[in-house]
Amino acid sequence: MRYGYFDTENDEYVIDRVDLPTSWTNYLGVEDMCAVVNHTAGGYLFYRSPEYHRITRFRGNAIPMDRPGDYVYIRDREDGDYFSISWQPVGKPLDQAKYVTRHGLSVTTYECDYKGIHATQKMSIPIGDNALIWDVNIRNDSDRVRELDVFTYAEFSFHHVPIDNQNFQMSLYCAGSDYMDGAIIYDLYYEEEGYQYFTANFEPDGYECLRDNFIGTYNTETNPRAVAEGNCTGQVLKGGNHCACLQKSLRLNPGESARLIYFLGEGALSESKEIREKYKDPEALDRAYGELKSFWKKKQEKFMVTSPEDGIDTMINTWTLYQSEINVMFSRFASFIEVGGRTGLGYRDTAQDAMTVIATNPEGCKKRIVELLRALTTSGYGIHLFEPGWFLPEEEKEKKKKPFKSPTVIPEPEGASKVHGLSDACADDALWLVPSITEYVKETGNFEFLSEHYGYADGGDGTVYDHMKRIVTFSLQQVGDNGICKGLRADWNDCLNLGGGESTLVSFLLYRALVCLSELSGFMGYEADKKNYDDELDRLRTFLNDTLWDGAWFIRGITHNGKKIGSSQNKEGRIHLESNAWAVLSGAAKEEKARITLNSIHEHLSTPYGILLNAPAYTEPDDDIGFVTRVYPGLKENSSIFSHPNPWVWSAECTMGNGDRAFEYYRSLCPYYQNDRIEIRHAEPYSYCQFISGRDHTSYGEAHHPFMTGSGGWSYFAVTHYILGIKPGFDELTVDPCIPAAWDSFSVKRNFRGDIFEINVENPAHVQKGVKEIYVDGVRTDRIACPRDGRQHSVRVVMG
Ligand code: GLC
Repeated sequence: MRYGYFDTENDEYVIDRVDLPTSWTNYLGVEDMCAVVNHTAGGYLFYRSPEYHRITRFRGNAIPMDRPGDYVYIRDREDGDYFSISWQPVGKPLDQAKYVTRHGLSVTTYECDYKGIHATQKMSIPIGDNALIWDVNIRNDSDRVRELDVFTYAEFSFHHVPIDNQNFQMSLYCAGSDYMDGAIIYDLYYEEEGYQYFTANFEPDGYECLRDNFIGTYNTETNPRAVAEGNCTGQVLKGGNHCACLQKSLRLNPGESARLIYFLGEGALSESKEIREKYKDPEALDRAYGELKSFWKKKQEKFMVTSPEDGIDTMINTWTLYQSEINVMFSRFASFIEVGGRTGLGYRDTAQDAMTVIATNPEGCKKRIVELLRALTTSGYGIHLFEPGWFLPEEEKEKKKKPFKSPTVIPEPEGASKVHGLSDACADDALWLVPSITEYVKETGNFEFLSEHYGYADGGDGTVYDHMKRIVTFSLQQVGDNGICKGLRADWNDCLNLGGGESTLVSFLLYRALVCLSELSGFMGYEADKKNYDDELDRLRTFLNDTLWDGAWFIRGITHNGKKIGSSQNKEGRIHLESNAWAVLSGAAKEEKARITLNSIHEHLSTPYGILLNAPAYTEPDDDIGFVTRVYPGLKENSSIFSHPNPWVWSAECTMGNGDRAFEYYRSLCPYYQNDRIEIRHAEPYSYCQFISGRDHTSYGEAHHPFMTGSGGWSYFAVTHYILGIKPGFDELTVDPCIPAAWDSFSVKRNFRGDIFEINVENPAHVQKGVKEIYVDGVRTDRIACPRDGRQHSVRVVMG
């Protein structure tokens, strides 16, 4: 069953059946302000922090779902009947009204046709503005004059999510509203600059600032008193709960339309006046849409693929790129699942996100990498969850300091307490940063970055290269009794705690980090380091293959009391995905073992919806293994199809030349291919979800937790770098695809260090991997150097 379709021409997903089984999300804004919206205009708005600078309120995990939101109600004065442009909250029966929602790149549009009125509400946050704009168009498609009243509604928040949800003894008396010059001004009194405004490009005929007056104490957003009765009280108040309602009366002749533009923004009266002035001419808003479009177009043009698979083209050129970028921009605690109750950056998630879209967002990825470098301790482990502001150099902190401390001040731990000890360190966290940095220098050619100085979380500073060295030194030292890296608090799998034991995954991640450092030190001419890393790699390769091999795959770990995890000797959790994927992908597994391992993954873990994280599911609690044994079988880390590590396997298959299997796996997880199976998937078909219920759960195939997941980034990275095989090197671009044998050809337009490469890959012999000939600008060559002349170059690659 389908609920919509991909409009590739306009980079939109069009939901033409709005009674979806769950909320389908979009993100508006590309700078400091962000709105998380769903398909029925539910959602919330924040400025910089979803936890500490929330503008509109949201009642997470509630019913009706995803309320409140940004609502526009239209009431016919003749009969008092009213509807909302988005299906919810009024929710007219779907056989009486027609609703469509279009989620695009940083734009969402709600559309409704009801009783001869066609209305649209287009939502966006233009580049350079700190305001959410509601662009409303109402057209009279009937053959009689219509007298309408238009009401808006958004509910203001007390800014700070915790005080929005508990302890109202202060908050209820600290927020006030005012109405001046056509603008509602919302004021969080005890914050010096705690203002927001709601205004429009017209003189309103009425307004309502008090939430309870608008809704009515025993009503809801579905039947708000003001709309049902057709009038606002025009009240303001110091204290209480506030809303953004402007009323406008319209008289529309047949065929006539009206465009009403609303602004929900950060700032006080003067900012509200500025934005009205800026968009006095609605064409200015049309230009702002153009700017947003070209913001995304520029990114899309960095890597544009045309392949025999629409799913790859649509997802890689648009939706997976978009999802990955949104993760880097608003990492990771703003969604309908994480509703702003946590904030900051998770070390491992951010380190991985920052590796995936360097080509399209080098500045954004560098910013994240620097934040992570500053959150590294001198011992070489990362601070697992941190606010980037904590570790800014004093001068930069000073600039950001608020002039006064309010009750909503963002709590900042004192000095040393920001830096947790080894007992809270996750063994994998910082190991992800090493490859991200090498990817960054390969993509940008910015080798000077390696000698830039950044502080350590616990004091002192060092070059970027010095940070990288400390990361691997830490992991080389943190080994357990069996010589395997310790699992510490957890490795990538938060729920596998190994009770103080050892993690094979971390050993393979260390191996990969060492490979990166060996290549980097070699290229930079640091011969002693290079020798040192190569020696470690030789030693580790033998050791890991000898010690961790279980017969048909690699084990996942050893608990503190010597019990093997992920072994054929176990009854449950016999085989795990992460350690086996990285055994191959890191290059540590010897060829025969790599081949057997991938076959075992296929045999034991593959499903029609993607690859299981482990199997069989754990059913008996065992604290030596960890929390994973206390999670329901088939959900989350206990034998679900956890999306994020799936692309590790696609990539590992590609390193071994198995293009058919890599694509089979891609297809099974890729949401695009589930567009017609929404009765099973539930979630949106344009973005990856954190996990899909595994075969041991009654909801097998149902996807959960969309958008804010590393799955998007990893999927983008695996397809571009491994399946299509276009990888930046230190001083070249390599093209080494691993594709389904059936493909005749594909092409990619790739912008690399300022040059544009028009790459055409031909596959006359129908192989899965292997490059026979390369031609650059018609001349046969064996490598694609980077001329950096800012010109277009044709690259012809013949596989065989
Ligand atoms: C969540 C966490 C991530 C972790 C994963 C597996 O996605 O954000 O850090 O690696 O779960 O436990």
